[in-house]
Amino acid sequence: MTHEVRSPAAAAPGRLPLDASLHMPLGAEGEGAARAGLSQVALGLVGSEILKIAADVRALQAQGRKVCNLTVGDFAPSEFRIPRSLERGIASLLERGETNYPPSDGVLSAREAVADYYARELGLRYPVSSVVIAGGARPVIYATYRAVVDPGERVLYPVPSWNNNHYVFMSRAVPVEVMARPEDDFLPTSDLLRHHLDGVRLLSLNSPLNPTGTALSREALTEISVMVVEENRRRAARGDRPLYVMYDQVYWTLTFGDTRHHTPVELVPEMAAYTVFVDGISKAFAATGLRVGWTVAPPYVAARMRDLLGHVGAWAPRAEQIAAGELLADPEGIAAYHAGMRSEVQARLDALYEGFRAMAEAGLPVRAIPPQGAIYLSARFDLMGRRLPGGALFSTNEQVRQYLLEKAGVAVVPFQAFGRGLDDGWFRLSVGAVSVAGIAEALPRIRAALRDVI
Ligand SMILES: Cc1ncc(COP(=O)(O)O)c(C=O)c1O
Repeated sequence: MTHEVRSPAAAAPGRLPLDASLHMPLGAEGEGAARAGLSQVALGLVGSEILKIAADVRALQAQGRKVCNLTVGDFAPSEFRIPRSLERGIASLLERGETNYPPSDGVLSAREAVADYYARELGLRYPVSSVVIAGGARPVIYATYRAVVDPGERVLYPVPSWNNNHYVFMSRAVPVEVMARPEDDFLPTSDLLRHHLDGVRLLSLNSPLNPTGTALSREALTEISVMVVEENRRRAARGDRPLYVMYDQVYWTLTFGDTRHHTPVELVPEMAAYTVFVDGISKAFAATGLRVGWTVAPPYVAARMRDLLGHVGAWAPRAEQIAAGELLADPEGIAAYHAGMRSEVQARLDALYEGFRAMAEAGLPVRAIPPQGAIYLSARFDLMGRRLPGGALFSTNEQVRQYLLEKAGVAVVPFQAFGRGLDDGWFRLSVGAVSVAGIAEALPRIRAALRDVI
């Protein structure tokens, strides 16, 4: 490899720019990285499985096919707009010059607004030193892992669940995965978790749950919380470090019907010392691109997360976080927005659920779990062991996924993308980027596709 140091004059108008690609070991992405001697973490990272499926969808759309895209855990702005007040607030804050670095734990007014929001809406009073604002929920999750777990230590989480495998990997932690059961709506129970607590530093919980659209009940979460408190009493007696719970509640404003959202701290107050909340505006206000999230945690944990996030620079943009704080301080505005958003999300999930119920009643091999929260539906396309006339037997979720995409123009994500490695036909269907009309058009196509399988 030759190294050439060029003076700025080389970029002068009329001169060809230096072709940097001639000086790098190119090739397939991974191959180039391996040859360049990158770290084990960089080499071992796995990209998003869902983004790979998105490429298939784009390819089909490029052929002019209509696709009902139920894959992305995002909101299409054409279907779900952020609150107007948030939009205007950000614009006027930018105009006012709120463009410099925010404090590393967040702008004080936004942190106070989160603390008041939790007191008002969740009945939990925390000091403002418990609140750290960050650039979305993802950095908060990463900071939680890094603040609590040392390399080589264990993290316990149920599967299916969202991205724990990636955060475990980046933290060099040891995963302890527990398979949640369809009969429990794919939610963890204290019975499932209890036998896996040895040496675990972090238990990762999420409710309402991505990918299943189901939510922990008061009873189930109470039992898990009591289990953690008892475990920590035993650890304290031995002088051992406690077990923390990361409670990711980014979808907590989206629950349907009789489902109520609960928190470990509300149910078992001693959990305040061990609970690290993950939250933000991405899902609650359809604001995934604005990048405002936060943690609410014991102040000594929050302070280390602040320092970690500060070094990464994963702050929320200043104007966005101030405007988010103003929104959180407006209970009537929030209530009005959520009434609309919840019914729109529910209409989409209900349309899918009812569609599948009708198909099941007609004897077709599909069933779904009634939607409880978030923007997801769990559905099982039970095609294993069946075949298309003259075709091969279905034996993997991937075959089912491709069949539904090609035959019905419907894109779904197998539970394997969420760590459940079984080919038993369970899929996540996400409704944030589709209309009710789009779902109504897609259902007959799914029905026809399932009818063709024998
Ligand atoms: C359960 C869960 N937590 C956290 C996130 C990340 O949220 P953010 O966009 O604020 O980083 C997601 C996004 O899909 C999620 O599903």
